[in-house]
Amino acid sequence: MNIILTGFMGVGKSTVGKILAQKLELEFVDTDEKIEKLHNMSIPEIFAEFGEEKFREFETEVIQNISQKDRCVISCGGGVVKSEANMNFLKYRGKIVNLYASTDKIIGNIGNDANRPLIFGKSREEIISLMNERERFYKNCHIRIDVTDLPADAVADKIISELEGEIND
Ligand code: S3P
Repeated sequence: MNIILTGFMGVGKSTVGKILAQKLELEFVDTDEKIEKLHNMSIPEIFAEFGEEKFREFETEVIQNISQKDRCVISCGGGVVKSEANMNFLKYRGKIVNLYASTDKIIGNIGNDANRPLIFGKSREEIISLMNERERFYKNCHIRIDVTDLPADAVADKIISELEGEIND
């Protein structure tokens, strides 16, 4: 089985994912890192050169590939959930966990991050509107965890306790 971490940018998926993988002795995989390595470009470079649509194609290729793996913690880019095909690949052998936090916490974490082309230079209202658009996808995940007041280590423990009995399947 795999554990798939989803959630809006800045919610802490990669930090939690690394801790979780360590605790469970699973491999850690980050979809954005895979895309960057495969195309030898950073995420902002891919968006600038090819646009979001092409980035989503690259993302689906990577998701299709890593969803064949087993015993991994997979940290997904925030937009992976938008594609039904991605979700079907990931559900094949995975439990989908959604991490969410208050708007203030997320905006505080991501700030005006040049490494995140979808929010760079955007107003608070525009970021909130993107968060609202994503909600309908996140709410379909198997497990949802509010991480607003939890340190990453406690989030990892909470995921382990919520998935108890399923992790070694
Ligand atoms: C995106 C989230 C980013 C990255 C890309 C698009 C999104 O990943 O995949 O910039 O659409 O929400 P993080 O969620 O790891 O920042």
